[in-house]
Amino acid sequence: MSYAIIYSSNTGNTAKLAECIKHILPSDKLIYFGAPADEAMQADILFVGSWTDKGTCSPEVAEFLNGLENKQIYLFGTAGFGDSSAYFDEIEKRMAQNIPSGNVLLGYYLCQGKMPQSVRTRYEAIAQTDPKKAQPMLDNFDRALSHPNQDDLEELKKSVCNLLKKICLA
Ligand SMILES: Cc1cc2nc3c(=O)[nH]c(=O)nc-3n(C[C@H](O)[C@H](O)[C@H](O)COP(=O)(O)O)c2cc1C
Repeated sequence: MSYAIIYSSNTGNTAKLAECIKHILPSDKLIYFGAPADEAMQADILFVGSWTDKGTCSPEVAEFLNGLENKQIYLFGTAGFGDSSAYFDEIEKRMAQNIPSGNVLLGYYLCQGKMPQSVRTRYEAIAQTDPKKAQPMLDNFDRALSHPNQDDLEELKKSVCNLLKKICLA
């Protein structure tokens, strides 16, 4: 069985997850690695990743997922907020809504990803007038700074290795 890793990443967080998946899986079965493209649709198993844009995947990834037929799909991604599995589950559900019936969702993994400094600057401006509102946002921003970290990548590896026990990429 062949596979492809397709992802959308503006600032490199989701790209780290994509690289991590690439290192775990057999290189001779990889037919595509990169941004959403028709070429990737030749693969049997698709690892599809995205940064979180307004609570769901990027429009490019949504469009790509919408075009899939009879594929086995594993979703992955990063989000600026969260730090809780319930939040990540919600994002995954919204991402998965783009997958037409007839495809099989094999699993997913999401973790937190750092945000640009411009976001903190915006929170700091809010803190001037509404410090109570801004503090949790500033705390979350600072927590996100180290993500995705080694622990996140280990969790992703575990998830993908568990998947490998169920599917055949040999
Ligand atoms: C325009 C924009 C919208 C975003 N919307 C969300 C969101 O709704 N929820 C969230 O948790 N993070 C949101 N984020 C944060 C990013 O998803 C997060 O930093 C992600 O790790 C970036 O991944 P990348 O480095 O692969 O691009 C948003 C970031 C931007 C720039």
